[in-house]
Amino acid sequence: MSLDETAQKPHDRLGAHLAADMERVNALIRERMASEHAPRIPEVTAHLIEAGGKRLRPMLTLAAARLCGYQGDHHIRLAATVEFIHTATLLHDDVVDESRQRRGRPTANLLWDNKSSVLVGDYLFARAFQLMVEPGSLRVLEILSNASATIAEGEVLQLTAAQDLRTDEDTYLKVVRGKTAALFSAATESGAVLAGADDSEVAALFTYGDALGIAFQIADDLLDYGGTTAAIGKNVGDDFRERKLTLPVIKAVAKAGEAERAFWRRVIEKGDQREGDLDQALGLMARHGAMESTRNDARGWADRAKRALAALPAHDLRDMLADLADYVVARVN
Ligand code: IPE
Ligand code: IPE
Ligand code: MG
Ligand code: MG
Repeated sequence: MSLDETAQKPHDRLGAHLAADMERVNALIRERMASEHAPRIPEVTAHLIEAGGKRLRPMLTLAAARLCGYQGDHHIRLAATVEFIHTATLLHDDVVDESRQRRGRPTANLLWDNKSSVLVGDYLFARAFQLMVEPGSLRVLEILSNASATIAEGEVLQLTAAQDLRTDEDTYLKVVRGKTAALFSAATESGAVLAGADDSEVAALFTYGDALGIAFQIADDLLDYGGTTAAIGKNVGDDFRERKLTLPVIKAVAKAGEAERAFWRRVIEKGDQREGDLDQALGLMARHGAMESTRNDARGWADRAKRALAALPAHDLRDMLADLADYVVARVN
């Protein structure tokens, strides 16, 4: 490994290793995000897709396929498929969350409107389904179509759990597994299946993707309280304003005395939020060690992801996937 490569973040290193494949994925994404008939589509998709994003999920598909010895071309299509599904969910998610910033840019719902985001998101979902059919594998189709349904379920479950102080860690895990980890695990599992990997390898890559996705979302939820807008490309404090029961809040609420519960009831249940409330929430979380405990949980899931890799053959890509698991939690250290 070159000095240059060691200085990079793990996903940069993975990106460098998969650069030729990733270039083809990006070209295919550009080709398929266009529409001859509705100019609003390429306007919105270009705004979001050209802003970059980490491209984590397509890299996972490429890495899984390559790691399992795949030599064909269809992994490019599957990688583009997962990024399309991801992009579609982001368009919808920013409408639901009323978010104003994504990937360091104003969201599409802010620049255009909710209608455009919903409809262009639908278009991208449909494009994803066209692409996922092309490899001609029913098993791959099953994995990716199931994931699409599971993501939507996770988002809806979160919707009904928001503003409800009784939401516990089990429900949170269900939400996160659905809305985020389902696509990570489908990305890795479909790559392995495409490569014709044996059952134990497919299972290992599924487990890796699932645990990585959970670690990633827990870390993302921490960053919503402890990160900076510049670093995450999104507005900090969105989850608090949206009155979401993410893990740090669930942990703080579980330890709250009567006065603290009254605070949480006011800001989360009633939505009566005033100047300084976000700081007070941060203070309560710190007091009960909620951030530290959440960080430990993220670390636990990242370790679980790494352990799953033991069932796979020794390979540069396997090491990079292990580093990636460390990186998703290192973001919040
Ligand atoms: C954002 O995912 C949605 C979450 C699951 C938190 P990413 O952080 O991977 O988004 P991009 O693609 O890099 O912008
Ligand atoms: C993102 O969830 C998950 C999906 C897009 C399905 P969040 O709402 O927690 O993520 P951000 O903070 O908007 O990226
Ligand atoms: Mg959101
Ligand atoms: Mg959301």
